[in-house]
Amino acid sequence: MSDPQSVSAAVAKLYDTYPFPPEPLLDEPPPGYNWRWNWLAAYNFCTGRKPNRSNLRILDAGCGTGVGTEYLVHLNPQAQITAIDLSGGALAVAKERCARSGADRVQFHHLSLYDADRLEGEFDLINCVGVLHHLPDPIRGIQALAKKLAPGGLMHIFVYGELGRHEIKLMQQAIALLQGDRRGDYKDGVQVGRQIFSSLPEKNRLVQRDRNAGQWKISATNALPICTSIRKRSTTTSTRCLN
Ligand SMILES: C[S@@+](CC[C@H](N)C(=O)[O-])C[C@H]1O[C@@H](n2cnc3c(N)ncnc32)[C@H](O)[C@@H]1O
Repeated sequence: MSDPQSVSAAVAKLYDTYPFPPEPLLDEPPPGYNWRWNWLAAYNFCTGRKPNRSNLRILDAGCGTGVGTEYLVHLNPQAQITAIDLSGGALAVAKERCARSGADRVQFHHLSLYDADRLEGEFDLINCVGVLHHLPDPIRGIQALAKKLAPGGLMHIFVYGELGRHEIKLMQQAIALLQGDRRGDYKDGVQVGRQIFSSLPEKNRLVQRDRNAGQWKISATNALPICTSIRKRSTTTSTRCLN
């Protein structure tokens, strides 16, 4: 699988089968606080200054099941949020999540971030967490987003780090090898992954991570769907950039 359309189709199919993240839906605003999703805090971190307005437009590009989207709405009470995703299944969960917690200043679109130019206007804050490494051409993806960034705006980007995901890459390879021509059947991939996982030694980092995962962390076994097929580029993690 190497042509861009089949990579994107595989990504959408994976996240339709296993919408991510699988965090529970709550009937109230999410617990805790994350400064990266708060415009005042993020702007101050990047510029050392206070922003001159708070009635901003925010784009959550690749919103998944809306965990970040929901924070963006609740932590920026005057902002208008737009959330897009390639996966209709993930978007359906995101819509329900936001509806249940009263996060009502958000518009959802079933759209690839490659096609961000179809969205009206520019955005002061573009949040793109855990997405760009799934694209067949991440550079084209970030360029599509950059065109939608308002002057003086911020982009918050998170991509997988290569070293930190070493064991996950090995797991992907092992699952692909054992699946053979069933590759692309994500439910089967998860079953194969569970079998491999149960045979891993105690000191394996995935096993340790799973053991230490608290209520709000994503355990290694919950992350198994992501191991099942998608070809990823080598990436590094960066957290901020200023337009
Ligand atoms: C690992 S999830 C991250 C979800 C969310 N940003 C978060 O951090 O909780 C990756 C999401 O990116 C979406 N995605 C992948 N490629 C995309 C694209 N080209 N355009 C829009 N969304 C995409 C997937 O459908 C999936 O829902």
